[in-house]
Amino acid sequence: MNIVIYGSGSVHVSLLPAYIQVLHRRLEVDISIVLSTAAHRFVSGEALCTLTARPVHGPIDDVGPLGIPRHVELAEWADLVLVLPATANTLAKLANGFSCDLGAAVVLAASCPVVVAPAMRRSMYEKAAVRRNLATLEADGARVLRPGAYPAVGQRAGGADLGDEGMSPSPSQVLEFIEPLCEQRAAS
Ligand SMILES: Cc1cc2nc3c(=O)[nH]c(=O)nc-3n(C[C@H](O)[C@H](O)[C@H](O)COP(=O)(O)O)c2cc1C
Repeated sequence: MNIVIYGSGSVHVSLLPAYIQVLHRRLEVDISIVLSTAAHRFVSGEALCTLTARPVHGPIDDVGPLGIPRHVELAEWADLVLVLPATANTLAKLANGFSCDLGAAVVLAASCPVVVAPAMRRSMYEKAAVRRNLATLEADGARVLRPGAYPAVGQRAGGADLGDEGMSPSPSQVLEFIEPLCEQRAAS
C-alpha cells in the first residue's frame, strides 16, 4: 500500500514525523512525502527522508530518472493521497484545480482516493471561503478528515494566549480515517 502525503505550510506539518510513525506501526505502508514551499519552513526534509526511506519531493515538479514527470510518477504510484496538513491556501488551490506545485499536481493527476485533512485556527476553519472549498472538494470526491483540537500547536506564543484554537487531526484520528480506505483498496 503506497501513500503520498502532501504536506502544506501549516505549523502542524512539524507533526508529520509523529503521523508517519503511527501509520508505519499500524499499517503496512510505503510513504512518499511531497512538501509545499511553505511546509519546508516548518519541518526537516532530512528527518522525513530518514523516516520514510524515500526522497522528499517538492515544491517544484521535476522529471524522474526515467523521464517521467514527478507528478505522474507519484500519482501512478499512490494507492492513497493524503493532504496532511491541508492549509486554507492549499484547500483553495485544490478546490479550484490549480496545479501550481508538485503536491497539487499529484492530487489532480491521481485516480486513487484523496483524503484532505485541514489544519488551521478555528477562526480560519469557520470562514465561509474555507467551508465552501471543503464542500467543493467533497462534491468532487475527496474525503475530508474534519480536524479535532489536537494538539493546540501555536495556541500560545511567548506565553501569551492567542485566544484561538489550533485544529488538526491527531495521529490516531488519521489512522482510524484511512485504515478502512487502505483495506478497501487492498481488497480491490
Ligand atoms: C507560523 C505560521 C503558522 C501557520 N500555520 C497555518 C495553519 O495552521 N493553517 C493554515 O491554513 N495556514 C497557516 N499558515 C499560513 C500558511 O503558511 C500560508 O497561507 C502559506 O501561503 C500556505 O502555503 P501552502 O498552502 O502552499 O503550503 C501559517 C503561517 C505561519 C507563518
